[in-house]
Amino acid sequence: MTDELSTLKSETAAALAACADLRSWDAVRVGILGKSGRLTALLKQLGALPPEERRQRGAALNVLKDELAAAIESRRAALEAEALNAKLARESLDVTLPPRPAASGLIHPISRTMEEMAAIFGAMGFEIAEGPDIESDWLNFSALNIPAHHPAREDMDTFYLPAREPGGRRRVLRTHTSPVQARTMLSRTPPFRVIVPGRTYRADHDATHSPMFHQVEGLVLDRNITLGHLKGCLIDFLRAFFAIADLPVRFRSSYFPFTEPSMEVDIGWNRRTGELGGGGDWLEILGSGMVHAKVLANCGIDAREWQGFAFGMGIERVTMLKHGIPDLRPFYDSDIRWLRHYGASPLTPAILHEGV
Ligand code: PHE
Repeated sequence: MTDELSTLKSETAAALAACADLRSWDAVRVGILGKSGRLTALLKQLGALPPEERRQRGAALNVLKDELAAAIESRRAALEAEALNAKLARESLDVTLPPRPAASGLIHPISRTMEEMAAIFGAMGFEIAEGPDIESDWLNFSALNIPAHHPAREDMDTFYLPAREPGGRRRVLRTHTSPVQARTMLSRTPPFRVIVPGRTYRADHDATHSPMFHQVEGLVLDRNITLGHLKGCLIDFLRAFFAIADLPVRFRSSYFPFTEPSMEVDIGWNRRTGELGGGGDWLEILGSGMVHAKVLANCGIDAREWQGFAFGMGIERVTMLKHGIPDLRPFYDSDIRWLRHYGASPLTPAILHEGV
């Protein structure tokens, strides 16, 4: 190979090595093999040579051309591989990095209490039943042995709807979850155990009363059900719900039109500190009793075969007691600071302790 050709070869190698990217590589390629590239120029000069010289020079140039084309091509492949590696490195994810903290919602204390009740009563074999917020006068009152003009109707501060039903009475916003007792007895055949969490309404508004609040009703109907079942069930529930294994529970004779006998249930606490447990004072927490024979009859249940007990309690009230929440009104304010403070994490299980 002449000096001229070996110079071209080494200069091309140097220029290719100096290429940092495909753009400068392409400039080198065009500068050698392009229309006015250096090798192309040498090939063009062949025609002017005498035949013998032309053959030799032509052979040498063809060898050189193959070598240069191979060098250029291999540099392109190397640059492309480098570019791909750089891109992969740029786009790589560090899967070991901890995730950014995501803003997560919390469960409202009322929903949380309902979940806990469903978990505790669920473990005792209760199912969830539901009824509408707007009830007939009959289901909210009469079926439950609260006839028209009964004084219990006055106590309830009922919201009446304007339109009258075919029977002449006006429908109501249910004043308690007890109408779902009647609905369940009318639509199912015993035996069954249900709890009914839901909204209730009374025309009353102060620090401890809201016109809309929540109750949970319970109803058990079976053969040979006694007061002992009622007491055992409620003692177990209260101790599990407040997570106090020896929480004192007292049953106090009382009156509800739809149960006989009726009992109010008190739990032990300390009036001075507000702490629940054996503090020597009593706090009324729920109403209960054996389902009244008239209620069974109103709902078409044969009282000689089926007996049962029922109970009802305020969800806000037990939630306030359990978490030391002093005022009822913020439950419905949607104040994010209150919700952050009293809201529950969706990841904590509803029952945090054994013994249910
Ligand atoms: N419905 C009653 C109330 O709202 C509570 C209750 C329910 C009492 C079931 C006895 C049995 O006060």
